[in-house]
Amino acid sequence: MTIDNEADLQGLARTGQVVAEAREAMVAAVAPGVSTGELDAIARDVFREHGARSAPRLTYGFPGSTCISVNDEAAHGIPSTTRHLRAGDLVNLDVSAELDGYFSDTGVSVAIGDVSEAAFRLLEATRHTQLVAMDSARPGRRLQDIGRAVQSSARARGFRVIRNLCGHGIGHGLHEWPSVPSIDDGQQTMLSEGLVLAVEPFLSPSAEYVTEDADGWTLRTADGGPVAQFEHTMGSRLRVHSC
Ligand code: CO
Ligand code: CO
Repeated sequence: MTIDNEADLQGLARTGQVVAEAREAMVAAVAPGVSTGELDAIARDVFREHGARSAPRLTYGFPGSTCISVNDEAAHGIPSTTRHLRAGDLVNLDVSAELDGYFSDTGVSVAIGDVSEAAFRLLEATRHTQLVAMDSARPGRRLQDIGRAVQSSARARGFRVIRNLCGHGIGHGLHEWPSVPSIDDGQQTMLSEGLVLAVEPFLSPSAEYVTEDADGWTLRTADGGPVAQFEHTMGSRLRVHSC
């Protein structure tokens, strides 16, 4: 969607605050031994408290309030009370919700306990690349400029971009036009003022593709290597929710 009035702006900001609150509460609870199901319940409670609804559950019937993906799982991991995090794991918390007809989507990758130097570098490179990508999403630029910025930032830090996962337009629905690739695929679409985007590059040491598990949800790297993602919802020129 494109923000064209104050009500849109306020609505998006409110949903953005809810997903940011849920994300931060989950991050605070991350520790060795905690299950992904317990983390999911934290977000479920935050959504409930604000009258918000889980966007993946609402939109796709996803079997969880949030997507929680560990190590080589890139996205859409199903939370489970039998899946316990261990020191050295990388966990991705992807939190999206709907409130009063407005959607927001955010994600963060977190290290559990002490992780390897390589895993730490992957997290920092991905966090930085996401910021670079948002900075490139400005009115008057083209969609391909975002992908080019992601690719060059990842490459400069020695990482690959997952090519078959994309950011997306968002606002009245979870996934809207346009798709926001993390590669320069030549898309000439001009970014207009107020266009709302979820920007979410995925980086990995060597993988460039993810494949879907037999559970029909979980996406993991084709080579079994680790992957990290950071995501924020933004309007061009205007960050809709806090980092
Ligand atoms: Co997301
Ligand atoms: Co998203």
